[in-house]
Amino acid sequence: MLSIFKSKPELVNLIPNDFVDIHSHILPGIDDGAKNINDSNYLLNSMKNMGFKKVITTPHTMKNVWNNTSETIQNSRKIIETELAELHQTLNLQAASEYFIDEHFVELFKTQPLLTLKDNYVLVEMSYLNPPIPLHEYLFELQLAGYQPILAHPERYVYYHHNFNDYEKLKKMGCYFQVNLLSTVGYYGKDVAIAADKLLQADMINFAGSDIHHKQHIDSFKRKTVIKSNKQLEKVIENNQFFK
Ligand SMILES: [Fe+2]
Repeated sequence: MLSIFKSKPELVNLIPNDFVDIHSHILPGIDDGAKNINDSNYLLNSMKNMGFKKVITTPHTMKNVWNNTSETIQNSRKIIETELAELHQTLNLQAASEYFIDEHFVELFKTQPLLTLKDNYVLVEMSYLNPPIPLHEYLFELQLAGYQPILAHPERYVYYHHNFNDYEKLKKMGCYFQVNLLSTVGYYGKDVAIAADKLLQADMINFAGSDIHHKQHIDSFKRKTVIKSNKQLEKVIENNQFFK
């Protein structure tokens, strides 16, 4: 008998065995993710076991909080390459960054090349409290400098939840959106899950990212999704193959 209460899938079961992840914090000791090489080892092995084939990891670059540079990030990646050589042979690890949008970021991309996910695709984030007042100018400048912005976890910016127009404005100006996979299991709360669902249903999400920082994130991939738009989510996950 068909049940109308069709059960929701576990998030881990939506991950294909060739998943390309474009957002995580697994490099040792350079942001609020992995604290040391043991953490990196645990997180990367867990990701591999869940089907991650390629990980483009994205440590924070945020002036006065996480003062990363292309050098600190690439040096940290090289530590993994040497210390976790065996793992590195089976899991393709690359490094970019998640850049915090502020005036320091503008100064940075005007003077130095950014670490990109691929070609000119750059991952950016905003404050969870409020967007920068000149947000559109900053993004426009970034585009003028030749980059394609991908906004990390738009569903987590609660100040947009009741201003859906603001999402549409960003999309209209050519900004891409990356949903956090864990938003779909309610990890960041109900409102964030609802916003993720709305954005997916409106076909406004381009890519997906794990945003894995620690073990609790890994464990939460076993939770069931709480959204209606699992089909759209699967499509978005498939879009990540662009970065393979
Ligand atoms: Fe992140």
